[in-house]
Amino acid sequence: MLTFLWKLTAFHFLIISCCLLNYVSPEDHPDIPAIAKYFNTKGTYEEVNPHLKEDILAVNRSILQPPSAQCQQIHLTAIIRHGTRYPTTKNIKEMQQLYNIVLQNATGVESWLREIQTQWTMWYTEDMDGRLVQKGVNDHKHLAVRLSKLFPSLISEEKLRGGFIKFITSSKHRCVNSTLSFKAGLTELWAITDKEFDHAVNDSLMRFFAQCTRFVQEVDNNATAVSEVDKFKQRPEMRRVQEKIADRLRVLYRLITHDMAEAAFYLCAYEFAIKAVNSPWCQLFDEDDAKVMEYSSDLREFWKRGYGYDINSKSSCILFHDVFNRLNKAVSENKSGQQVTEAVTVQVGHADTLLPLLTLLGFFKDSEALTSTNYATQSQRSFRTSRMLPYAANLILVLYDCGGGDLRLQPLLNEKPVAFPGLTDQQASMPLYQDVRDHYKELLQGCDFETECQLSKSSA
Ligand SMILES: *[C@@H]1O[C@H](CO)[C@@H](O)[C@H](O)[C@H]1NC(C)=O
Ligand SMILES: *[C@@H]1O[C@H](CO)[C@@H](O)[C@H](O)[C@H]1NC(C)=O
Ligand SMILES: *[C@@H]1O[C@H](CO)[C@@H](O)[C@H](O)[C@H]1NC(C)=O
Ligand SMILES: *[C@@H]1O[C@H](CO)[C@@H](O)[C@H](O)[C@H]1NC(C)=O
Ligand SMILES: *[C@@H]1O[C@H](CO)[C@@H](O)[C@H](O)[C@H]1NC(C)=O
Ligand SMILES: *[C@@H]1O[C@H](CO)[C@@H](O)[C@H](O)[C@H]1NC(C)=O
Repeated sequence: MLTFLWKLTAFHFLIISCCLLNYVSPEDHPDIPAIAKYFNTKGTYEEVNPHLKEDILAVNRSILQPPSAQCQQIHLTAIIRHGTRYPTTKNIKEMQQLYNIVLQNATGVESWLREIQTQWTMWYTEDMDGRLVQKGVNDHKHLAVRLSKLFPSLISEEKLRGGFIKFITSSKHRCVNSTLSFKAGLTELWAITDKEFDHAVNDSLMRFFAQCTRFVQEVDNNATAVSEVDKFKQRPEMRRVQEKIADRLRVLYRLITHDMAEAAFYLCAYEFAIKAVNSPWCQLFDEDDAKVMEYSSDLREFWKRGYGYDINSKSSCILFHDVFNRLNKAVSENKSGQQVTEAVTVQVGHADTLLPLLTLLGFFKDSEALTSTNYATQSQRSFRTSRMLPYAANLILVLYDCGGGDLRLQPLLNEKPVAFPGLTDQQASMPLYQDVRDHYKELLQGCDFETECQLSKSSA
């Protein structure tokens, strides 16, 4: 009887504590906008890995699950996007324009609107132009510490001091600063003060998109290439979002153009990413509106960097080969009894670096293309930049030697194991390296940057 009572009580306690927890959990994060998971490439890394909100240095090594205890990590390549940054000059101009409209023309009476008009100030200045912010420094410092906890045999003080960890970055200041921050994360962790570690700047590798002539001409500088985005701006879904914003501000519909809606969305996203505040600007959107804004931006990424055009992913051939050459080198050094000279490679670039490579590898491919007319049927799409490409997004490839020539390659995206798409294997998240090579055979034998990126004779 007593036991029964105890059980009953314990059971009730469980229910109560569970519900209490559920109830208080939003209260734990009153500063997180309800729409924070729809911010595309302006989203925070913590929104993609929510456990980091509790402990920014938390890692769970058991996610790696190698097939046997014998497996040892022999090489790791991390391709990482820069950390949180300021808006670009173009975005800042639009934000200023929207702010003026709200100051001069909005007549609503809600408290959040009063807050924008009387307390909020336009603190973004054009000279901020995409620079890394302090949160971005922390993004990379914390990532470095977590990766050293996740891969202690590779990202170690000994390996760093021995010169077995290489750093390569895009020349953009936000990437160079991210690289410096990543290194500082490690040197501060190990209290290394007697030595500095250099990095190479390589834009052919980390900003290949700017050097691929065919991509630049046919897609990047070609307005027609993103016509689906323009068509979506005229669709009822998008129009409705703009009207709802105008209604909330009580301004004429024609004042809230697509650019102004986007500026409002950016204001909510940047205030959260940079200052960790749930800004009054976020009140201009409900969740349905945010999903439409998210789609509009995904549509652009799809046609400019993703599956929309073959050249988008092919522009990353140079990085693709670079990664596999390094893996091969590690394999052959290990096989011939030498120490692996490049145990770890940390490469820092852009969303525009990662997305074409992820696309080339086949990640996040839906059966249908994203178009201006299929917003509704794409609601469950896997091509979702909010999930894929927050600040400090990363693709990590880990090479394992499991003994007796059994080599395996594990991909992780944003520190979570993923499977190479289309590779049917029971150990899909840690397939044999040879199976990965077979799977990408055509790309390994072709995918030549020079050939792919030259203008064809007809268009030249
Ligand atoms: C760590 O990951 C394993 C495997 O995915 C999971 O079963 C376990 O619950 C995780 N532990 C924590 C503390 O999250
Ligand atoms: C917005 O406010 C400005 C300044 O008061 C005014 O000049 C302008 O006509 C207003 N625009 C509209 C559409 O009401
Ligand atoms: C980034 O680097 C530049 C130039 O080295 C420096 O002036 C700036 O303070 C750095 N910013 C951050 C946030 O570290
Ligand atoms: C950049 O990387 C590519 C590919 O690995 C290499 O061929 C090239 O020499 C590097 N450039 C510089 C400036 O280091
Ligand atoms: C621009 O894109 C459209 C649509 O893909 C294409 O038909 C056209 O040839 C492109 N223009 C150039 C200059 O490449
Ligand atoms: C090759 O990798 C295996 C597995 O990690 C390791 O035991 C061995 O020492 C490596 N060989 C060299 C020369 O590093």
